[in-house]
Amino acid sequence: GDVHFYEFLLSEKNFTRLCSTKSMLVVNGSFPGPVIRVNKGDTVYVNVHNQGSYGLTIHWHGVKQPRNPWSDGPEYITQCPIEAGSNFTYEVIFSDEEGTLWWHAHSDWTRASVHGAIVVSPATEISRPFPEPDGEEIIVLGSWYSGDLNVLVDEDLRTGDDLPHSIAYTINGEPGDFCACSKETSYRWMVSYGKAYLLRVVNAAVSAELFFAIARHNLTVVGMDGHYIKPIVTNYIIISPGQTMDILLATNQSLGHYYMAARQFWSQDPSVPNFDHVNATAILQYEGNYSFPSSPLFPSTLPFYKDLQAVLSFTNRIRSLEREGHPVKVPLNITTRMYITLSLNDMPCRDTTCSATEDGKVFATSANNISWVNPSTDVLLAYYRNISGVYTTDFPDNPLSYYNFTSDNIPANIALTKQGTKVKVLNYNEAVEIVFQGTNLVGGASNHPMHLHGYSFFVVGTGSGNFDNKTDPKGFNLVDPPEVNTFGVPRNGWLAIRFLANNPGVWFWHCHMERHLTWGMDAAFVVKNGDTSKTSIRQPPAYLPPCRVPFRSWLQ
Ligand code: C2O
Ligand code: CU
Repeated sequence: GDVHFYEFLLSEKNFTRLCSTKSMLVVNGSFPGPVIRVNKGDTVYVNVHNQGSYGLTIHWHGVKQPRNPWSDGPEYITQCPIEAGSNFTYEVIFSDEEGTLWWHAHSDWTRASVHGAIVVSPATEISRPFPEPDGEEIIVLGSWYSGDLNVLVDEDLRTGDDLPHSIAYTINGEPGDFCACSKETSYRWMVSYGKAYLLRVVNAAVSAELFFAIARHNLTVVGMDGHYIKPIVTNYIIISPGQTMDILLATNQSLGHYYMAARQFWSQDPSVPNFDHVNATAILQYEGNYSFPSSPLFPSTLPFYKDLQAVLSFTNRIRSLEREGHPVKVPLNITTRMYITLSLNDMPCRDTTCSATEDGKVFATSANNISWVNPSTDVLLAYYRNISGVYTTDFPDNPLSYYNFTSDNIPANIALTKQGTKVKVLNYNEAVEIVFQGTNLVGGASNHPMHLHGYSFFVVGTGSGNFDNKTDPKGFNLVDPPEVNTFGVPRNGWLAIRFLANNPGVWFWHCHMERHLTWGMDAAFVVKNGDTSKTSIRQPPAYLPPCRVPFRSWLQ
């Protein structure tokens, strides 16, 4: 592969949206940030200069980085933050990914403004399972917040209040015609009639699954998370935060302009009415002279924000594409099975400042009733250098198994999670199956788009209610399951995934809803080295950002 170099300059800049101006940390002055373009198998060096006022890290979402966890990025997992005023060069190693991926900050909620697309083109044109498109477009879906997120998030964690909710969604940085003061700056994509375009969609929204549709145009989804899928012809998509999709679009309509629109899918208690954000829109505009209609058509196929059926009927259609030279390699002889419950919990106050809350409890989330706490030295360094006291290796395997997790009245005593920094150690080449079980503990049930670093995984099964280990595995798809890096565990349901642990390192996994991640729905795998140097972690880079500032020192 080729080698590319990028310079990322992080600094504060003023942006005006929804009638008010605020300062945000962005890369190279733009929101969304710059696009990284590579061919399959290339290596990219990204020199990140942090000229902001707090430390942060960058993650290359969906890039597997074989044997190179040093440049994966999640703070306190594989590195400590790049402090304000300093820099760090990431070595981003691409392997079998092809299609669209993205990069984003992996430090608290900084990713709301620090993110951008990664375009991985085929190394040779013949590897693409569809004809060369006439043109391409990148659509980055984002969320907009009022105020400074870093201040707001810190404050909410201190007081135990709910974490911030966005006030609008954006398409390539713009909320669009239906939001206050936004019409002038709506994003416009110019196309010519009679062509085939490749649309690269990234959901960079902080805590929202989004429906997306284009009026009067079919979407043919051909790729997801950097892997090709069997084409799905549809008139809307649902895309989880973290996911990316490659979509073919034929420009075969005659009215001149059309809305593209995104709307949140709200999976929590559907009776809660406060999530009907105004739709984010952008305009698909045909070149040439069109006289009518004066206002673009809105996509009537965009599902309603509570439409769970629309979510399932799209996601249940996703299948890997088997091609010559690209077999679908689902692990068959499983050596490690895990059953992991995902919960929204209550937890005793993290510190004294929140004891004012009614019952002294605050929001938390957990995996197997452990709410992840970032250590002050990163897990990777502690593992590599044998530093003790940073993490423990007792991530619980099957803690409360066979409880009815999706019933309505789960006793409060099993809902009090414990905090911990517990990892699961896997041997090299272990064939892993995980069943993620959504629960309905005190915080209620919700969808959880689960993301695994360092790997893509196969989604072999999903269903509603409690997983039944006798009957449900019989229905697993071991032939052409989707191969992805992020996939939703349905509200009050389960998701079964498989992967081969052939990438040694320390790899974070978590819910990609930032509010759930922040509250603790995270953990890490330590994947041990194989027998040879070719199956072992690479040497660390000569310089790593020092671990000087303890994680959330203000909470200690
Ligand atoms: Cu897209 Cu751990 O992240
Ligand atoms: Cu979640």
